[in-house]
Amino acid sequence: MDKTYWYKDAVFYQIWPRSFKDGDGDGMGDLYGVLEKLDYIRDLGCTAIWFSPLYPSPGVDCGYDVSDYMDISGEFGGMEAFRKVLEGAHERGMKVIMDLVVNHTSTEHEWFLKSRQRIDPYTDYYIWRDPKAGGRLPNNWDSMFGGKAWQWDDVRGQYYLHLFAPEQADLNMDNPLVREEIKKIMTFWLDMGVDGFREDVITFISKREGLPDDKLLPASKGIFHYSHGPRLHEYLSEFRRDVLGKYDCLVLAEAPLVTPKKALEYITESDDNELDMMIQFETMCADCLFVDYVRMPFSLRKLKRRFSSWQKSLEGKGWNMLYLENHDHSRVVSRYGSEEFRGESAKLLACCYLFQKGTPFIFQGQELGMINYPARTLEDYQDVQTLNTRTSLSVQRRLRIYSKASRDHARTPVQWSGKKHAGFSEAEPWFHVNPGYTEINAEDQQKDPQSVLNFYRKAVELRKSIPVVKNGSYREYMPLSGRFYVYERYDTDASLVVICRFSSSPGRFRAPKGIDLSEYELILSNYDDAPLTKRGFDARSWECRVYLKNNK
Ligand code: NOJ
Repeated sequence: MDKTYWYKDAVFYQIWPRSFKDGDGDGMGDLYGVLEKLDYIRDLGCTAIWFSPLYPSPGVDCGYDVSDYMDISGEFGGMEAFRKVLEGAHERGMKVIMDLVVNHTSTEHEWFLKSRQRIDPYTDYYIWRDPKAGGRLPNNWDSMFGGKAWQWDDVRGQYYLHLFAPEQADLNMDNPLVREEIKKIMTFWLDMGVDGFREDVITFISKREGLPDDKLLPASKGIFHYSHGPRLHEYLSEFRRDVLGKYDCLVLAEAPLVTPKKALEYITESDDNELDMMIQFETMCADCLFVDYVRMPFSLRKLKRRFSSWQKSLEGKGWNMLYLENHDHSRVVSRYGSEEFRGESAKLLACCYLFQKGTPFIFQGQELGMINYPARTLEDYQDVQTLNTRTSLSVQRRLRIYSKASRDHARTPVQWSGKKHAGFSEAEPWFHVNPGYTEINAEDQQKDPQSVLNFYRKAVELRKSIPVVKNGSYREYMPLSGRFYVYERYDTDASLVVICRFSSSPGRFRAPKGIDLSEYELILSNYDDAPLTKRGFDARSWECRVYLKNNK
């Protein structure tokens, strides 16, 4: 099958189903709710949807613990509702990709239930090990969600590996039968008409032979023994060769710790590449050290370095996936922007990534400038990762960290209106509604031409209609500035310049050499007026401007 590379023109919207929209009145988001909002997503300018898991699941990790890969959870409306959504999206010219979570399954998955009883062919579907001499754990790896990565199973009389929660058992991808199962799952959804997959922590699926102890602990948790493991290329190529290559589909891989250099081993632009795009984490660490829960002051220079390094390194070689929010990170306005200047900074953040080269993703509620939930106690949190992270610290310190870093901030119901429960549901929602919904909601923003939502619409529309945004090269200016992020997208026909002032205090912007703004047209900005003075302008709090010059 010839690839059309449709994803290069796409703008994605990510739906985290539980909190998107309740359509059947039980307090939980579902596919009926999605059906109601397909026009909204299309009107935002999005041309594709990524669904976080919709499969049946006990919900320990909100669906990332799958108990049946070939069905849609009844909680979300089941297969019938999914087919309607798929059809409805396609009718509106939108593609749909599914989350494919195959590093691990729920321990309630039939494979696991049979594997623990040593029923063939499932006996070796998981990574089972005897204790080491003296009853010690098989190795010293830690789980990503706190505690050790091994769980004892009484039924089988062995330990099994779980890189995430104990209820998420890692599959043994070295077993060819497991890989056949994965290929069956891929085929099932692609044959139904889905347009690709976002593959959950897929770079973790090949563990180093012998599962050696990690000598670098405590910081690394064993990760260097399974991230980009020895047979990863082989397995990804096998998936492409046997299944994915037969469809015009997108393969988007989540890849913690990936660097641009490493990414290019997988995403070179060719029809038989292993992956099309990777979800990197580097640009999500401008206010933390490797992981969100180890906080650092926000550094614009760090963010710019990371943006530019991905833009420059992939130029002409691979395709970037662009994002600032998803269900694993708190709200970006509360991290890289300013809650005080919410509207301004939400718009600036849109500009700082939507005009880069690559395929942008917008996470539900981001387009409204939603902010973190004002949690007060540990009971306000529900996320398995949050509650198991940094547990040795005092409650006060944990609360401080979680208030900035918890994934729960991204998981509160989308604020559709100023009505009860933010118009998300008629019933009591499964999770807190952010009390800010009376001020921040889609209904009001739809009517307000100056809203964050309408700004996103304009930005998306511009991005789609200006060719230099898709294909032009990238150049950064003023890399040492701790207040301005300035980048240019250019080719022989045009130059597009984005100027973002990352600060609540005003400051003078002096156009760098080579850019004469009087030759440009202002096409987007987050203040009503945008006066220019000679060689620059006086930038206001969180001001951003996008300028375009056509050379023809
Ligand atoms: C990455 C997913 O995005 C996250 O939500 C999940 O908890 C882990 N993988 C485990 O599946």
